[in-house]
Amino acid sequence: MSFNTELHILTLSQDGSYTAYSKEYEEHYHSTKDGALKESLQKHVIPAFELVQNDEVNILDICYGLGFNTLATLLYYAQNRPQTQLNIYSPELDSDLIKSLKDFNYPEEFTAFRDVINTLSDSGKYTNANVYIELFVGDAREYVKRFENKFDIVYQDAFSPASNPLLWTKEYFSDIVKAMRDEGIITTYSIALKTRLALYENGCNIYLNCGEDYRDATIASLSELNGLELVNMQHKISCNPDVKPLSDDDLVINNI
Ligand SMILES: C[S@@+](CC[C@H](N)C(=O)[O-])C[C@H]1O[C@@H](n2cnc3c(N)ncnc32)[C@H](O)[C@@H]1O
Repeated sequence: MSFNTELHILTLSQDGSYTAYSKEYEEHYHSTKDGALKESLQKHVIPAFELVQNDEVNILDICYGLGFNTLATLLYYAQNRPQTQLNIYSPELDSDLIKSLKDFNYPEEFTAFRDVINTLSDSGKYTNANVYIELFVGDAREYVKRFENKFDIVYQDAFSPASNPLLWTKEYFSDIVKAMRDEGIITTYSIALKTRLALYENGCNIYLNCGEDYRDATIASLSELNGLELVNMQHKISCNPDVKPLSDDDLVINNI
């Protein structure tokens, strides 16, 4: 199955890597300004691995999409942490998308992972001596309920709250937090107060992930993290008393 150019528009992003525009969600899979590969590395993989130093790391990659976060993790891991046992679990609704990724125009950096891309595309599973990857075809909301106290890292990389609100509600994040270890961290590109509130009201501390050459992002954790700027949520709430996190109840009422 080849990459569906009727449902997607292949787009060259700022760092020279290709992403795609989804006609269904009316959104790109990655920030075209930051660049697809750079966004994966700077907003998810690098900050996560700087914080999590375990010998075995369990990652929940929400959602697989074009696979950049999983593949960028393998890239970082091969270069920096080859001894770590890496387990990646990634839900994705769109089975045709997964099957079509064999001929996606990936950046050169992913060339070494051609075998991983093809194996995942064919069977949804990949294993070698130190790596286990499992794709789940179906709803991420159901999938996360299978896990408790498991994940060290959650890449929260769904389409935006405006186009895919069910993957940003307070109830959804409650299930994510239950699936995480106490020291686990969540990385996300979203800096929206609604998103941060949904995490904060589930007991997370909220931190700023910022750098010179990419737009601000968020890191959340139940534990205190050193070396990151803590977002003063009480201050933000007092300045924006009407802002509420997204809730499943609102989405049901609005038939989303
Ligand atoms: C922004 S893309 C993910 C990009 C991906 N992390 C990457 O690096 O390429 C969001 C993905 O979520 C999938 N999706 C949307 N709703 C979902 C759901 N309820 N469960 C699982 N996957 C879902 C979409 O099909 C899409 O592939």
